[in-house]
Amino acid sequence: MKIFLIAGARPNFMKIAPIVRALKSRSVHGLVWKIVHTGQHYDYEMSQTFFDELEIPEPDFFLEAGSGSHARQTAKIMVAFEKVCQDEKPDIVVVVGDVNSTLACSVVAKKLMIKVAHVEAGLRSFDLSMPEEINRMVTDTLSDYFFVTEKSGIDNLLKEGKPKKKIHFVGHVMIDNLFYQLDRLNNQDPSQLSTYDLKKNLEKYAFLTLHRPSNVDDRATLADIATALNEISAKVPLVFPIHPRTKKMLKSFDIKLSQNIHLLEPLGFRESLFLWKDAIMVMTDSGGLQEETTALGIPCFTIRENTERPITIEEGTNTLVGNSSKGILEAFKKLEQGLQKEGKIPELWDGKASVRIVDVLLNAKEIL
Ligand code: UD1
Repeated sequence: MKIFLIAGARPNFMKIAPIVRALKSRSVHGLVWKIVHTGQHYDYEMSQTFFDELEIPEPDFFLEAGSGSHARQTAKIMVAFEKVCQDEKPDIVVVVGDVNSTLACSVVAKKLMIKVAHVEAGLRSFDLSMPEEINRMVTDTLSDYFFVTEKSGIDNLLKEGKPKKKIHFVGHVMIDNLFYQLDRLNNQDPSQLSTYDLKKNLEKYAFLTLHRPSNVDDRATLADIATALNEISAKVPLVFPIHPRTKKMLKSFDIKLSQNIHLLEPLGFRESLFLWKDAIMVMTDSGGLQEETTALGIPCFTIRENTERPITIEEGTNTLVGNSSKGILEAFKKLEQGLQKEGKIPELWDGKASVRIVDVLLNAKEIL
């Protein structure tokens, strides 16, 4: 059996790392697996650093898709991936998450009659203005294996008419990676980390990430968010590793951030974890951080109107605060008053999702 693992953008890398580990631990006769990097993210800080620190082997195929409009980027990945599939003839293509690479590779594979396995299937924000929602829906329309992280995923897939036997509630590979890396981090000398001095000098701080087009591509929205961030930073310093898109937009809109907001280049996984795990709160519009903060019990304010990961609200530490200064400031006020949510770890977020996924894939013939 030949398995392809697809990774293209930053949030994919943490998801394939534990699957690679689970595959490596099996010696099954005839099992071959290969890593395909689409090149959607390509800067050292957005890509290579993750391969190094997450112990992901060098990709077997690098498609060099790069940036561009959605159509251009998706098309470049599709053309290059089709050639690799025709040459290599994989049996199963494993795609993770909801980025353009996920959509592009699942469409190509399915049209070549190759089975598609979607890790993180079934999540829905029901907001079609998010490119990721379209990517999730299309990928799930084509998938043969649905690996689901939370109960809402099962419900959504069943409502869409997907057969129950193809849906596997396995937990979350992102959390597998989190626990594994947290363990390594705790056994490492922290003074080797480049953010050690910054953290040492901050008595308490909040951690911020922001990159979603709906938050950063519109001047009025970004300016309003920045107003709230500047106000909060007068009370508690913010640490803000900044995504290239956000950096570009702040500059082009000439929006100024307070000096109490410590701007950093994009961080590797461990540098980032080292900072946010001890933050008094995380503010973010990322998908993964909503879940990772829930797993570690850190208060999280999600700067969005909706989430495709409702378990983090229902059971975890996540709160949706919207993307206006009013909502962000109100949430911060509650935290100041000590009114943060308690939260618990969702079912099957136990660090073993990848092992469950590999078990299903290796028994694939049963349901193919
Ligand atoms: C993509 C994903 C998003 C994910 C995010 C994490 C889609 C539709 N979006 O968004 O779901 O949360 O990754 O980062 O797939 N750029 C660089 N260096 C890079 C990569 C990008 O400078 O290595 C800049 C380019 O100017 C590019 C812009 O960032 O145009 C956006 O990159 P792109 O891959 O289109 O989307 P993201 O915003 O990163």
